[in-house]
Amino acid sequence: MKKQLLKQALSLGMAAALLVGCSGGTTGGGTDNGSSDTEKQEQTDNTTGTEAGATADASGVKVGVSMPTKDLQRWNQDGANMQEQLEAAGYTVDLQYASNDVQQQLSQVENMINNQVDVLVIAAIEGSSLGEALDMAKSAGIPVIAYDRLLMNSDAVSYYATFDNYMVGTVQGQYIIDQLDLDNADGPFNLEITAGDPGDNNALYFYNGAMDLLKPYIDEGKLVVKSGQKDFEDVATAVWATETAQSRAENILSSYYADGTNVDAWLCSNDSTALGVENALAANYNGEYPIITGQDCDIENTKNMIAGKQSMSVFKDTRTLAAQVVKMVTQIVNKETVDVNDTDSYDNGVIKVPSYLCEPVFADASNYKELLIDSGYYTEDQLK
Ligand code: BGC
Repeated sequence: MKKQLLKQALSLGMAAALLVGCSGGTTGGGTDNGSSDTEKQEQTDNTTGTEAGATADASGVKVGVSMPTKDLQRWNQDGANMQEQLEAAGYTVDLQYASNDVQQQLSQVENMINNQVDVLVIAAIEGSSLGEALDMAKSAGIPVIAYDRLLMNSDAVSYYATFDNYMVGTVQGQYIIDQLDLDNADGPFNLEITAGDPGDNNALYFYNGAMDLLKPYIDEGKLVVKSGQKDFEDVATAVWATETAQSRAENILSSYYADGTNVDAWLCSNDSTALGVENALAANYNGEYPIITGQDCDIENTKNMIAGKQSMSVFKDTRTLAAQVVKMVTQIVNKETVDVNDTDSYDNGVIKVPSYLCEPVFADASNYKELLIDSGYYTEDQLK
């Protein structure tokens, strides 16, 4: 029965993976707290009686899932998907949210370790602040999967599952280039930039992905950042807060665009920050509406895309990521080789963490129905 459920969950996960291009990876790598690669290979060879990915008995296996906050939409979906898919596979789940409070997340993870979870899945608020808990996990022999955000400065991280973060940025940057037709149009065009949380390793990847493409146009003078705020430190948004992004955008608009000058494009690293910029524009701007990028396809932002107030977003199907992580958990528990497709990109300052990168997907008003409604991610009513 359990095996049947697990098989169903895995095939659902695989279908979702195919849908948004969470491509099959090579296998290997891993610092599986306590079992060397050779051991793992031998263990894999000894599991011929077990169907690929199926756990002999998941019921006794406890998985701790630590999520950063309920305040930003996606983590509620990530948490719910993880819980649902892990439970469908027969695991016992301890799911905790930490209200974007680093100390709270630290003590929640420590409690999970004291309660003897078998595997930890952590989406950190701040990648570098869970060191103590990670050390505890390592001493207790508990494998740790970094979920979406890399856990930094620790050798206790076994695996990382995420979306291709640099690619998210390149999709956003390329969109601005194409929409403004930067290779043909004379310009100059005005650009402003809003990035993410400096404590989140992903934020710099998004920023760099976009800026690596946009910077040549800035250097050439075709893109002008009137505020002068271009460096990551100047454009970052603590904990990705909409209000913080909004007040910075209000300052920029009143200082540099009050005379009716157009902002032609506003690079926003994700939807919560894009929403802040959109709120600021609604209250403080009379020029032509800019191109605005985003990420996550949050409900409010998808509504804004439909209404023409946000140009695009990047869809990261949280069901796909959850399915990939459930697969990782099962492979770890079964002592099988864990699927990864990148062993080089994610150096956390101490080790290169074997990673599985899912592919992010471009979204705008022309394809949101297919991506979000037909796939069952949202109902039509949720977007009204
Ligand atoms: C995630 C993004 C998200 C942001 C804020 C990042 O770590 O990768 O998808 O928009 O956090 O929640």
